[in-house]
Amino acid sequence: MSVTPTIDQPRLTVIGTGYLGATHAICMAVLGYEVLALDRDHAKIEALAAGVVPFHEPGLPEMLRKALDSGRLRFTTDVAEVAAFGDVHFVCTGTPQLPDSLGADLSQVEEVLRSLAPYLFRPCLVVGKSTVPVGTAARLHGILQAAAPCGSDVELAWNPEFLREGHAIEDTLHPSRLVFGVVSERARRLLEDTFRPLLDAGVPTVVTDLATAELVKVAANSFLATKISFINAMAEVCETTGADVSDLASALAYDDRIGGRFLKPGLGFGGGCLPKDIRAFIHRAEELGTGQSVSFLREVDAINQRRRRRTVDLVREQAGGDLRGVRVCVLGAAFKPHSDDTRDAPALDVAAQLHAAGAHVVVFDPQAIENARRSHPQLEFAGTALEAAEGAQVVALLTEWDQFRGIDPRVLGRVVGARAVVDARNVLDAGTWRDAGWRYRALGRAAAA
Ligand code: UDX
Repeated sequence: MSVTPTIDQPRLTVIGTGYLGATHAICMAVLGYEVLALDRDHAKIEALAAGVVPFHEPGLPEMLRKALDSGRLRFTTDVAEVAAFGDVHFVCTGTPQLPDSLGADLSQVEEVLRSLAPYLFRPCLVVGKSTVPVGTAARLHGILQAAAPCGSDVELAWNPEFLREGHAIEDTLHPSRLVFGVVSERARRLLEDTFRPLLDAGVPTVVTDLATAELVKVAANSFLATKISFINAMAEVCETTGADVSDLASALAYDDRIGGRFLKPGLGFGGGCLPKDIRAFIHRAEELGTGQSVSFLREVDAINQRRRRRTVDLVREQAGGDLRGVRVCVLGAAFKPHSDDTRDAPALDVAAQLHAAGAHVVVFDPQAIENARRSHPQLEFAGTALEAAEGAQVVALLTEWDQFRGIDPRVLGRVVGARAVVDARNVLDAGTWRDAGWRYRALGRAAAA
C-alpha cells in the first residue's frame, strides 16, 4: 500500500514524537508521504534521526529504518521549518491527567498551537490527534485562526487515533476506522488526500463535527474500560460465592453479542490512556452539567483500583497474613505485555503497595525495568525471572508476558523459598502448578479447584 506522488499529495508534519507521533510519522512516510516530524526534546529527535526508536514497540525500528532510507522522513526541532513545510500538521502531544484533579492537562497541545500559529503564512490544515475533552477543538480553532497570519485559511480538524501499544504499526496501517472531525469540505478533502492509501484499501471512514470526533475516542476507551471492570466486578462476586470467573468469562464470550475481547478477568487496566481518559471524561461531563450520564465511570475506576488491593491481599494471604520481611517475586512491571510503558501500570502499583506493607519486593520484566526503576527506585530489580524468584516466599504474576505463561513450575519451584503463587492475570494452568506442589491463587477463583 503506497501513494503515487501527485500534486494532491499533501506534505505532512507531525508535532510531538512520543508513542503516537513517532509511529504516525514513520508509517505515513512508509506509505509514501513526505513527512517532517518535530519534538522539543532534542535527544528524542537525534535518536529518531539516527534510526533509534526511544521506546519499545515491536517492528517499529525496522519501519523507521525503511522510512529513513526512503528519504521521505526527516526530523527537526524548528517550528518555523515545520510551518513552512506542511500542508497538514498533525498534533500528537500528550494530554496526561492533571496532578490535582481528574481533568486532562492540555498545556502541551495549547503550547504547540501557540508556537506554530505565528508562522502559518500559507493555507494549511492543523489536525489534532491527541485525546482531548469535548469542546477543546472548537475553542482552539478560534484561537488558531486569530493567531495565524493566514487567518481563516488555516483550519483545525480532529482525527482521533485508536492505536494500541504493542500493535501500533498494524493499528496505524490497518485501522479499524478513520474518524474525521471537520468544519469544512476543504478540510474533509484534505484529510481524504492525506489518508488516500487507507481509504483505497477500504478502511471505513466516519466524517463528523469536531465535538463528535473528540467524543468517539473517549467513548471508545470508556466502553473498553467498562467491559474490563464488568468482568472484574463478576470476579468479586465469584470470590464471595466460590464460583470461577475464568469459566464464567469463557461462557459469556460464546455469545457474540458480548464477545471475549476485553473480557479477561484479572488485575485490570492501566497505561497512558484508559485510566486518565475515563477520569477526564468524568471531569468534563461534570463541567458541562451532564456528570450523571457518566457517573458509572467512577465505579469502573473504583472496581479497577479494588483489583489492585485484592491482589495485595492475596499475596498477603499466601505469605501467611503478614507481609513484613517477606520476599516477594513480582513478574511484570509494564502495564501490559509487548510494551515498556509503566504509566499507571497495575503491576508496579501492586509492587509498590507490597513494598509499603513491608515486603522485600524483587521485580522482573522483559522490557520495562528501566522505566520502572526510574519511577519506583524503592523496589529491587532482577535480570531474569529465576533471579527475581530466588528465595521468594510468594511469586506474583502481574503482567501476562508470554515468557511468564511458559514458566515451568517445577523449575521455578527449585529456586523459591516457598511454592506459593498469585496469578493476577489468570493465565497459568492451575492444575499444572498445583501438581508441581504450588499453592495457587488467582483473582476471581476459589482457593482450591
Ligand atoms: C488503549 C485503547 O485500546 C486504544 O484504542 C487507545 O487508542 C489507547 O488506549 P492501550 O493503552 O495500548 O490502548 O492498551 P489496551 O490494549 O487497550 O489495554 C488497556 C489495559 O487494559 C491494559 O492494562 C490491559 O492489561 C488491560 N486489559 C485489557 C485487561 O485488564 N483485560 C482485558 O481483557 C483487556
